[in-house]
Amino acid sequence: MLVANAWIEFPLRRATNIRWQQLSIDKTARAQQKHQQPVCLWFTGLSGSGKSTIANLLEKRLFEAGRHTYLLDGDNIRHGLNRDLGFTEVDRVENIRRVAEVAKLMVDAGLIVIASFISPFQADRQMARQLFPTGEFVEVFIDAPLAECEKRDVKGLYAKARRGELKNFTGIDSAYERPTQPELRLDTCLMSAETCVEEIIRSVLNINPVV
Ligand code: ADX
Repeated sequence: MLVANAWIEFPLRRATNIRWQQLSIDKTARAQQKHQQPVCLWFTGLSGSGKSTIANLLEKRLFEAGRHTYLLDGDNIRHGLNRDLGFTEVDRVENIRRVAEVAKLMVDAGLIVIASFISPFQADRQMARQLFPTGEFVEVFIDAPLAECEKRDVKGLYAKARRGELKNFTGIDSAYERPTQPELRLDTCLMSAETCVEEIIRSVLNINPVV
């Protein structure tokens, strides 16, 4: 590391002398106590595609039905845990790595977790998926064409990006890799947020009836 023009040598202090601690209360016990099947619903899509709106509505519906939930939302997480990260490719990879680990802990706590992040890279979504046993990670592609998201431009960020005032904006000068095999694809040009929520509850959560 170069500090004030002098080199300081130090070893990488990655933990090696650690082992997994077996705990008495596990995911199954926590889930049974809550009378629910924990799951991570992973929302991916462009900014303005409708992720936050649908995620918020879905959590509200589940909460009202007595489910134990948590919503991890990109903008909010970047105010705290990931406030040190920006939007370069490296930072986005680290953003997704951290939130995927957090989602895993929350699923382990027995919760129904909704993770709502652009998560533009296929490899990172795959990495997140691999943290979970089969069936516990459900990829939901919130799909809307770039032109439509740009037209909505709820936060005015597309306009900023077009004016060159915002670099690395997804869809403009940073890539979005569309999911090839999501468990569910919801077209928010054709479906209202309410209909999308119904569809998730019906086809993914198998909770019948909610509320
Ligand atoms: S991700 O690409 O790393 O998954 P994340 O979901 O956490 O992104 O954050 C996206 C949110 O940050 C957007 O909804 C938007 O409000 C805001 N944002 C600010 N700058 C950018 C940018 N350059 N690209 C995309 N979103 C941005």
